Amino acid sequence: MQDNRQALGQYMTPDIVANLVARNIPSGVTQILDLAAGDCSLLRAAQKRRSDLELFGYEIDSDMHRRARQCLPSAKVSLVNGLTGRLHKDFDTQNQIAVVGNPPFTEMVPTDALRKILFKAFPGLTTKLGGRRSEVYFLARSLLIAKVSNGTVAILMPISFADGDIYSQYRSELMKNYAIRKVIEIPENAFIATEARTVLLIIDTSLNNTKQIDIGRFDVTTEKVSRIYKGQLHAGDRLDARYYDGRTKFDAHALQLKDVGVTVTRGVYSHKEAKTMALGAIHTSDLARARNGKMSLNQNNGMHHRDTDLLDNAMAYPGDILLPRTGSRVIWSPVIVSDGSAPITDHVFRIRVPSASLEAVKNAFMHPNFNAWLKCTSKGVCATVLTKRELLTMPLFS
Ligand SMILES: C[S@@+](CC[C@H](N)C(=O)[O-])C[C@H]1O[C@@H](n2cnc3c(N)ncnc32)[C@H](O)[C@@H]1O
Repeated sequence: MQDNRQALGQYMTPDIVANLVARNIPSGVTQILDLAAGDCSLLRAAQKRRSDLELFGYEIDSDMHRRARQCLPSAKVSLVNGLTGRLHKDFDTQNQIAVVGNPPFTEMVPTDALRKILFKAFPGLTTKLGGRRSEVYFLARSLLIAKVSNGTVAILMPISFADGDIYSQYRSELMKNYAIRKVIEIPENAFIATEARTVLLIIDTSLNNTKQIDIGRFDVTTEKVSRIYKGQLHAGDRLDARYYDGRTKFDAHALQLKDVGVTVTRGVYSHKEAKTMALGAIHTSDLARARNGKMSLNQNNGMHHRDTDLLDNAMAYPGDILLPRTGSRVIWSPVIVSDGSAPITDHVFRIRVPSASLEAVKNAFMHPNFNAWLKCTSKGVCATVLTKRELLTMPLFS
């Protein structure tokens, strides 16, 4: 049972979240489908709100399928793979359809047929990233099924789908080929057994362009959603509430690092590789040695490396600002190199600033808003991560 739980992602949706999904099903819908039905939590919540709905479920696990039949006898639940199984014969595209889902968040090896589904749902996809995640295939099939009746998809996805760079192409394709109406961030305390942070996406498949997105946050205690942002976004932009929550505190018109000629690079070698090669590279943990935000490197290792251009990008010199890129226990304070030089690891960013802007950039890093900005911009489940693209959009706080 425990094996199935992990392998099949058997984490049922708690009632308060299932009710939230049900609340977001448009009133014209008459048929509802769940491709990974589990014990029918989502279908039960939908039926509680509207007893006239026709309900269809698909479940791969026979024990869970039995439970689904017991929990909701009125639903037509088939024991099949929700990604490939035939849809129930009573399912009729003349109806308005909503596909609901809290799919398994698991690794899989996709077949050619499944990859076809993925490219049909996301026609401009070129990345291989995310191509082994089952949730993206569930999302793809849900979109294709809903699209036949210009219906709706209401699906829970991991927070990384909303905030991660890996999924930016999927977000972009969603925004260009469908209308994302709402994104509701659901905090980790909503799911008891997994503590996963998730987002509920409400997607209207009747349109092939996203104009306005409503981004909100769900409060587990009050069961209410508070709006964090409403407006237009660029295709592929982040969709998590935490990001936009932080952004409202900063001046939207302030210059950003990218506007003042700042360049950001990172080291080439991991900490382990750099150690094996005896490069003496500066890692995130070394940045703690800084005093008053300054650090003397006093080394000149690694210059024997063949690929000097590559190495030069990964070297820190006086005046450079170093900042951790990722880590679980790192101190997120910028450090200015006072003298000497040394390579940096791939966990460290080197920020190089033209002299005319140096004071303004240094002041921005020392500004109290820097930490608030970092908090809403960095992301990650095990370790916190900041990307180069995001760092370049840091406002020059003053
Ligand atoms: C995260 S649970 C969600 C269940 C339910 N929809 C809910 O929201 O509570 C995912 C369910 O999908 C089932 N499942 C996993 N892979 C599947 C597949 N390929 N086809 C159909 N069901 C699948 C699991 O057995 C599990 O019951």
